[in-house]
Amino acid sequence: MPDLYAVFGNPIAHSRSPAIHAAFAAALGEDLHYEARLAPLGGFAGAVAAFVAEGGRGANVTLPFKEDACRLSSRLSERAARAGAVNTLLFADGEIVGDNTDGAGLVQDIAGNLGLPLAGRRILLLGAGGAARGVIAPLLAERPTSLHIANRSADKAAALARSFADIAALTSGNFAELAGKSFDLVVNATSASLSGDSLPLPPGLFAPGALAYDMMYGKGETPFLRLAREQGAARSSDGLGMLVEQAAEAFCLWRGRRPATAGVLADLRRQLAP
Ligand code: ATR
Repeated sequence: MPDLYAVFGNPIAHSRSPAIHAAFAAALGEDLHYEARLAPLGGFAGAVAAFVAEGGRGANVTLPFKEDACRLSSRLSERAARAGAVNTLLFADGEIVGDNTDGAGLVQDIAGNLGLPLAGRRILLLGAGGAARGVIAPLLAERPTSLHIANRSADKAAALARSFADIAALTSGNFAELAGKSFDLVVNATSASLSGDSLPLPPGLFAPGALAYDMMYGKGETPFLRLAREQGAARSSDGLGMLVEQAAEAFCLWRGRRPATAGVLADLRRQLAP
């Protein structure tokens, strides 16, 4: 019997994670089965308990259960505790270990795949919800010059900045207050692209050579990346590479071996071509 893994979410039918992990396992000759499981809203803990009873070794967790997974974990990695959210679970010796590989996936995609080391850069993070919180500590670990959080509601950005004050002095504000500032990396961690909304960003945000990065992905250009192109961002990327890299990091946690990602990312990119 192959070792059993799953991704839990709601909805989950369109998740790319089973295909990504199947490709990793095939490339490394790992005998595992990874499937998508729909957990009922309000029924995450029960779905996980049933999976563990079936012999499940580990799981990924996606919307809307990342905070439930954090509460369910009997032990948390430091980065999961900081994120207040868990996207990777490991079941071992009766324990539920919670980790969060999203931030590491973002950093690996930007610094590794896209070749933009973050040390000494000025970073703008758009959004102050769970997605933004999840990536702040891993971004700061790369020692950027500065990290500014901008959000539609400025008080949420300020509260988020305060909760990382022991690591670094973050600045924050609303979108209008960005006027006159410029950055080397602008990361969209809002959920605005989901609803097709464009963000009211002032012009001039993108320094020469800057990268615009949308943590979302899909067929075609996201509204944020369209705006970034119109405002002269030198480079842009959606979050497909982050998806593959966070999966590789989870795979490594479970199996102790890090899969190569370039071929898997190229295949997914072809499938998403408009
Ligand atoms: P997630 O877990 O995806 O981060 P969330 O915690 O609900 O989801 O946070 C959503 C983020 O997207 C918030 O920063 C939200 O801004 P507010 O805090 O002001 O609500 C932002 N967001 C969502 N839709 C938006 C829109 N149309 N314009 C601007 N910001 C938006």
